[in-house]
Amino acid sequence: MKRGVLCIFILIALASCRDDEVIRGPLQPFSLEWPAHFPPPPLRADNPLTEQGVVLGKKLFFDPILSSDRTQSCASCHHQPDGFTDRKNALSRGVLGQLGTRNSMPLFNLLLHNNGFFWDGRSVKLREQALLPIQDHLEMNENLPNVVSKLNDIRTYRLMFDAAFGNKEITSERIGLALEQYMYSLVSGDSKFDRVQRGLDTFSISEKKGQILFNTEFNPSSGIKGADCFHCHGDINFTNNEYLNNGLDSVFADKGRALVTGRVNDEGKFKVPSLRNVEVTGPYMHDGRMKTLEEVVEHYNSGIRFSSTLDPNMHTIRQGLQLTASEKRDLVNFLKTLTDQTYLNNPKYR
Ligand code: HEC
Ligand code: HEC
Repeated sequence: MKRGVLCIFILIALASCRDDEVIRGPLQPFSLEWPAHFPPPPLRADNPLTEQGVVLGKKLFFDPILSSDRTQSCASCHHQPDGFTDRKNALSRGVLGQLGTRNSMPLFNLLLHNNGFFWDGRSVKLREQALLPIQDHLEMNENLPNVVSKLNDIRTYRLMFDAAFGNKEITSERIGLALEQYMYSLVSGDSKFDRVQRGLDTFSISEKKGQILFNTEFNPSSGIKGADCFHCHGDINFTNNEYLNNGLDSVFADKGRALVTGRVNDEGKFKVPSLRNVEVTGPYMHDGRMKTLEEVVEHYNSGIRFSSTLDPNMHTIRQGLQLTASEKRDLVNFLKTLTDQTYLNNPKYR
């Protein structure tokens, strides 16, 4: 009888020591689901994606322990159903309810971002970027030594850092590397647009007209209508990865890229965002000033504001694109073909 009780006690003790989240054994390369019609993924040789690293990064991303009062995780401002951005807030709110100055950014295909992170590009590497929201007073308002010590108190984390990095040491550098691995694993390449590219689907007449407008130069003398979007949003990831001024303001409340470079010439320039999943990533622009895609299209159609740093591709449309109501609808319908339900619902990302 006594022996039976002891056995049960040991079994319970063993069960409570089992950590389902910990992947044991040698490092396993992460199987990245990368679309065949994309250029090959520019993987980072100094931080190879592993199953152990990605799963640790995911746990960190969703864990409010990274914030000072344990109420806010990365996912609080980056929700998967919104393309990992924040539909609720035009400007982000931090742990203490503090209002930030910018709109949260979507997270996917970050491997293709070769020119910095944030609206102003102030982070060159994703692993460095990942540590900034933790320390930002307007966001998670925590410091790195505290985060390291909080994580060190948790056995599962010690085991997961061991599994991902070869020993139990938890450092802020490793936190950055794990978050980088997880964020690089988020891939979007299965929208209707992609399926049309691969010959698996066809556009409606309106979507096709929208695509042509999107990819056609504005040149009224040619007699062909064009909305000129492709100059900046034309690559496979719908961004040229540059910092440009798309004519939102003539006086800049937020100086954008110039805050990083110190050059007057960069005032009012912001990262050209990818338009993939744009249907769900609103509100739009660096300060979330526009609520709908219709408003965005109307901005390009008739709302461009002049300034000395306005992109030359915008000069051509200063008089307005002169799109008809149905052409504006076509453009919006094309943008909606970039919504990727596979990515938005991928259970591996949560
Ligand atoms: C309080 C809301 C908030 C929290 C919490 C937050 N973010 Fe963000 N995130 C933002 C905002 C706002 C921006 C744009 C900031 C800017 O440009 O200055 C951003 C930008 C980013 C970008 C840049 C994307 C790009 O395309 O350049 C990445 C990556 C990112 N966040 C990852 C994270 C990670 C990782 C965490 C957790 C450690 C996190 N965020 C926590 C609001 C938040
Ligand atoms: C000169 C380059 C340029 C051209 C041309 C251009 N854009 Fe943009 N676009 C940008 C930049 C830069 C931003 C971000 C601006 C900001 O937030 O300050 C942006 C933002 C957007 C956004 C908001 C995305 C988000 O996540 O907030 C949409 C939608 C958009 N553009 C669609 C279009 C469409 C449609 C066209 C063609 C009618 C177009 N763009 C033409 C540079 C350009």
